[in-house]
Amino acid sequence: MDNKVAIGDIRVMISDFLIKHAFSKVAVLVDENTEKHCLPLVNKSIDDFDIIKIESGEENKNLTTCQHIWQSLTDNGYDRHALLINLGGGVIGDMGGFCASTYKRGIAFMNIPTTLLSMVDASVGGKLGVDFGTYKNHIGLFQIPNQVCIDATFLETLPEKELRSGFAEVIKHALITEGNDWNNIVSSSFESMEWSTVIDKSVAIKSKIVAKDFKESGLRKILNFGHTIGHAIESYFLEQGVDQKILHGEAVAIGMICELYLSCKKLNFDQADFDKIVAYIIKTYGLIDIPESGYSMIISLCGQDKKNAGNKIQAVLLKSIGIPITDSEIDSEEILDAISYYSKLNI
Ligand SMILES: NC(=O)c1ccc[n+]([C@@H]2O[C@H](COP(=O)([O-])OP(=O)(O)OC[C@H]3O[C@@H](n4cnc5c(N)ncnc54)[C@H](O)[C@@H]3O)[C@@H](O)[C@H]2O)c1
Ligand SMILES: [Zn+2]
Repeated sequence: MDNKVAIGDIRVMISDFLIKHAFSKVAVLVDENTEKHCLPLVNKSIDDFDIIKIESGEENKNLTTCQHIWQSLTDNGYDRHALLINLGGGVIGDMGGFCASTYKRGIAFMNIPTTLLSMVDASVGGKLGVDFGTYKNHIGLFQIPNQVCIDATFLETLPEKELRSGFAEVIKHALITEGNDWNNIVSSSFESMEWSTVIDKSVAIKSKIVAKDFKESGLRKILNFGHTIGHAIESYFLEQGVDQKILHGEAVAIGMICELYLSCKKLNFDQADFDKIVAYIIKTYGLIDIPESGYSMIISLCGQDKKNAGNKIQAVLLKSIGIPITDSEIDSEEILDAISYYSKLNI
């Protein structure tokens, strides 16, 4: 399957694409940050376009914002031969893609991911959609963008915390894949990463997995490594209030440590590899204090993961680096043990 991802110089990629197609109109979807930092890098490559601006943030990834996008397209007379360019992180890409795919039963759209997370994760695999109340990504569809253009230059203005968060997905991709990817990562520090190379490799890993299992009936589940416990920890901190919120990648980093700990216990994951991975993750993310009073809530949140079957908690554990085992059952006591292990690293 062609995932339509191009990596290179953004101006060249946009011009090449526009020359090949005759669109009736072009709109660029931005938020206040990408309008300021990213639009100047692309505006000269598009002759004539409208800007559709939304407010940044996951809290705006909803149907109300979609309504504003659909309304703008309607008010400006966009027909079925128009193009929507989604310039931003995963929020803009998921929501803009969803709006384009449903406007007049679908117009063309290009995603230009501008965060590391959206480059290596959200831009590949065709998952589009928005949140619905408290349900994340509840309304949406699978649809491959007409083009995805990745240029690491955008990362120069991305806040370092966001960059670090996206890097967790890079680590995840490397750990679930056989080959040299993990060794390449662990041999450099986060600060000295060569982002174009890292993105290239990480996108290739996800593309290969998605190509084999587009609708997530089997293999694609391995991408949830670190996410069963990670998501629960992310939700727990969010419940404590917006000021307590931790970033997705920070939570996934903890989730990977906990799930690897269980991989050692249950699948004999190599202890030396485990120690090395834990040391690298902690060097990159530091240690986040999880209050003991939160453990039971985190465990119950693991139980609510929509990927579970019945009332069993399922996670992706690793037999070794590159050998993920999906649908591995973990119970409450094991999760408690893993979180306690992580918390003791602090002492
Ligand atoms: N479709 C998928 O397969 C998939 C996979 C993973 C995550 N996601 C989704 O992605 C979203 C998270 O994406 P994200 O982490 O990119 O967050 P985001 O889109 O909220 O972007 C993070 C912040 O960075 C700002 N920003 C973006 N690019 C910038 C730049 N170059 N310079 C300065 N600021 C910039 C944004 O305005 C925003 O404030 C979630 O909604 C998640 O559900 C989707
Ligand atoms: Zn993730």
